[in-house]
Amino acid sequence: MADTNNFAEYIRLMTEFDLPPVMQIENQAYDFPWTTGIMTDCLTSAYYCYVYEVNDEIRGYIIFSTVLDELHLLNICITPAYQNKGYGQLLLDWLLNFARENKTKTLYLEVRASNRGAIRLYETSGFNEMGCRPAYYPAKKGKEDALLFAYEILLI
Ligand SMILES: CC(C)(COP(=O)(O)OP(=O)(O)OC[C@H]1O[C@@H](n2cnc3c(N)ncnc32)[C@H](O)[C@@H]1OP(=O)(O)O)[C@@H](O)C(=O)NCCC(=O)NCCS
Repeated sequence: MADTNNFAEYIRLMTEFDLPPVMQIENQAYDFPWTTGIMTDCLTSAYYCYVYEVNDEIRGYIIFSTVLDELHLLNICITPAYQNKGYGQLLLDWLLNFARENKTKTLYLEVRASNRGAIRLYETSGFNEMGCRPAYYPAKKGKEDALLFAYEILLI
């Protein structure tokens, strides 16, 4: 079971030296992975790129952008060998804390309609489905819809 007590201590900024292991995970985890070029662009642009690392082993990463009080989650990924152990939830919770601390009002994301595991993670974390972009993603057979989700941070 995931260690929930000090998870944030295992999150650090991604650097260019992390690209080989990150791309290895990306290629294992997705049928349609990002290219090294896309990942490099994220690192060199104003995007936020973090890795989850334990004992010098990268076990996941998260990439997002912010514009004013909006945050766009672009990629959240856990190494397949560590999936379904609660780490994706911890990484998403870490992002929600980051968002609160940075006065974010709304988080947005897009997910493949077939990605039931990720959709369940987002729904149980409080994201709401806002819409659909039909035939948005390439798929093994043609195209696949993107579902749009949003999370409103309640200011208390
Ligand atoms: C999606 C992903 C980040 C979830 O991380 P994870 O560590 O596997 O998920 P967790 O173990 O934290 O599970 C959290 C919740 O998500 C749901 N969930 C995760 N994987 C699931 C699966 N395969 N099937 C059904 N539900 C799943 C469950 O609701 C789970 O809650 P529970 O423990 O109460 O059952 C991870 O599976 C992953 O990296 N997938 C490949 C990349 C990807 O699809 N990223 C999302 C792109 S939008």
